[in-house]
Amino acid sequence: MQELSALVESARLDFAAAQNPAALEDAKARYMGKTGQVTMMMKQLGKLAPEERRQRGQEINQTKGQIEALLNARRDELAQAAMQAKLSQEAIDVTLPGRMSRAGGIHPVMRTWMRIEEIFRSIGFEVADGPEIESDWFSFTALNNPPNHPARSMQDTFYVDREDEEGRPMPLRPHTSPMQVRYARTHEAPIKVIAPGRTYRVDSDATHSPMFHQVEGLWIGDDVSFTDLKGVYSNFLRRFFETDDLVVRFRPSYFPFTEPSVEVDMMFTSGPRKGKWLEISGAGEVHPNVVRNYGLDPEQHIGFAFGSGLERLTMLRYGIDDLRLFFEGDLRFLRQFR
Ligand code: PHE
Repeated sequence: MQELSALVESARLDFAAAQNPAALEDAKARYMGKTGQVTMMMKQLGKLAPEERRQRGQEINQTKGQIEALLNARRDELAQAAMQAKLSQEAIDVTLPGRMSRAGGIHPVMRTWMRIEEIFRSIGFEVADGPEIESDWFSFTALNNPPNHPARSMQDTFYVDREDEEGRPMPLRPHTSPMQVRYARTHEAPIKVIAPGRTYRVDSDATHSPMFHQVEGLWIGDDVSFTDLKGVYSNFLRRFFETDDLVVRFRPSYFPFTEPSVEVDMMFTSGPRKGKWLEISGAGEVHPNVVRNYGLDPEQHIGFAFGSGLERLTMLRYGIDDLRLFFEGDLRFLRQFR
């Protein structure tokens, strides 16, 4: 009996020393395996007298049961420990905020572009598009701005390394006004069109960028007057800014392609530039020479044109003081317009 309880004790120590399931199985084999101590004892039972054998058999079976119980307990312990280790490694903090996929947004200048199209479509204007690398003729000459005309230097223009049909270097269009001529030459009067798009000038400061956006507007009929220009443009501004409370002035100016000509200024009512004027548009009654270049008779057709800066309208709408913010791609700025 003594030797049996020593055996159980020794198994307990062996099992406790096993730090993983494989080691535990090795320890088990030393007792229950083919040549394990318990197994060997069983084998020797046959050599005993029947009386003794029964008594001894029961004792060994009991010992075996105890060792098996110890073994199972240790197995459970190791399994628990393994589970704990795994759980603590894979810890999930369910209180952390989720990883949202960020929604994209439309650039504020594109929002302006879309709003302008919507407003002018609603009063019967078509929307047209044209080339950014433009011929010299459409950019200047057709707009009553012949070679050597002093007004031509009003725009500091980028040229690309390419010549137009007349052999003149081709500008990146410095305004959208070429679209007046392109559209009018390919459509029947009356003409009601806007042409938004990219434009380019050698200019860069808080209110100028080498690439910017304009929208050209043109309405030609048989009696479209300067009053119509004021009415249509003021109404557009009220709808664009969603208020009647606008501070706008039509200031006499000069463009070779309109007569009379104005510049439209608008005052900031919010933001760092509050109280300051910003020029948003050039406009006027289309010059008879330009109407002729449309392929129309200026005695029969008359109307107005305007060209407005989209960045500038956007600056006024949101009270933004520096136009370059639109082109820096800083998400902290852009996210505010989602
Ligand atoms: N094209 C002129 C500019 O870019 C604006 C303008 C357009 C003026 C149409 C009169 C008529 O400054």
